[in-house]
Amino acid sequence: MDASSESRGALVVFEGLDRSGKTSQCGRLLSYLEGLGHPVELWRFPDRTTSVGQMISAYLSNKSQLDDHTIHLLFSANRWEKRSMMEAKLKAGTTLIVDRYSYSGVAFSSAKGLDFEWCKAPEAGLIAPDLVLYLDIPPEKAAERGGYGDERYEQLEFQKKVAQHYKLLEDSAWKIIDASRSLEDVEKQVKETVSEYVVSCQKGKPLSSLWS
Ligand code: TMP
Repeated sequence: MDASSESRGALVVFEGLDRSGKTSQCGRLLSYLEGLGHPVELWRFPDRTTSVGQMISAYLSNKSQLDDHTIHLLFSANRWEKRSMMEAKLKAGTTLIVDRYSYSGVAFSSAKGLDFEWCKAPEAGLIAPDLVLYLDIPPEKAAERGGYGDERYEQLEFQKKVAQHYKLLEDSAWKIIDASRSLEDVEKQVKETVSEYVVSCQKGKPLSSLWS
């Protein structure tokens, strides 16, 4: 996609089951990188601020019903509508910490029974993350953490299926983090892992595309 060797920001994605601790760790990593003086932003998908994101939000809170394929494509469209902004930010040197990305899209939809390759197809061509931090936690333990909220996918049996589908997506960008440990222990490992990637992107690692 980009053969230049210019310094850029890193694309760091957090993935994991609901209640695996992603949102807390994203916040801690943001403060850490800001403290080091790095240009950094925290993004999340679904981005519920756009009109597509509002349709997704209504679906997740059971205020609307949608065909499984349709909601899958909306989640994907919600990433595509941010793609050019993502590329511009990374090239301008801003590191992006992203709470969920295409892996959530595929793991959750294929756990409902949609074809795995069909789920991956609309994600191909989005920007590939430099690092995917998968916060690994047994579904039963995640469910104990303050309980689930009211959203559509927050059910133990479904989350077990999602965990199995996530495992099929692991590639060389993934680092599996044992998220059943304390917040502090997880935070320490996250910081150590991310620092290395931020430096390699500053040295000009080119951007690449996901699954294409
Ligand atoms: P959130 O709780 O992180 O805001 O995510 C909302 C839910 O949407 C969560 O259960 C995971 C699910 N999800 C998908 O099904 N597909 C996707 O592409 C994304 C980003 C999230």
